[in-house]
Amino acid sequence: MTITINGQELPAPNDSRTTLLDHLRENLGLTGTKKGCDHGQCGACTVLIDGRRVLSCLQLAATVQGDVTTIEGLSKNGTPHPMQAAFLEHDAYQCGYCTPGQIMSAVACVAEGHAGSDREIAEWMSGNLCRCAAYPQIRAAISACAAQGLESAE
Ligand code: FES
Ligand code: FES
Repeated sequence: MTITINGQELPAPNDSRTTLLDHLRENLGLTGTKKGCDHGQCGACTVLIDGRRVLSCLQLAATVQGDVTTIEGLSKNGTPHPMQAAFLEHDAYQCGYCTPGQIMSAVACVAEGHAGSDREIAEWMSGNLCRCAAYPQIRAAISACAAQGLESAE
């Protein structure tokens, strides 16, 4: 059994109880996805499955249906995704621990059409916590990326 992750067919875990988060980090070495709470409360572990946000700490790897994208899969040929570039430009992080999850969620937030205002971004990004409280910069990055469009990454 395999799982498609960042366009690659990779093995599913032997243990059916393994979460997608643990499988990514412990078995496949994709440590960009972070473990914060491990209880579905912080958003640090956010990945995309068929473009939709999923908390990988709550998802069993063996039950994944669809293509998984992690932070490692966003850049193309060494060029950062526009959302990654916007986070850099707007200094939208401090310690950086929440940042991969923030960026994955931000990509989906824009793709969903939920980045029309600062308030709307705050609402639709509310599942991603930042202990460093970089929220104003994160919202500014998302707003700038939404204005520019995500397409230039493709
Ligand atoms: S680690 Fe998954 S939501 Fe916190
Ligand atoms: S940048 Fe430190 S938790 Fe968000």
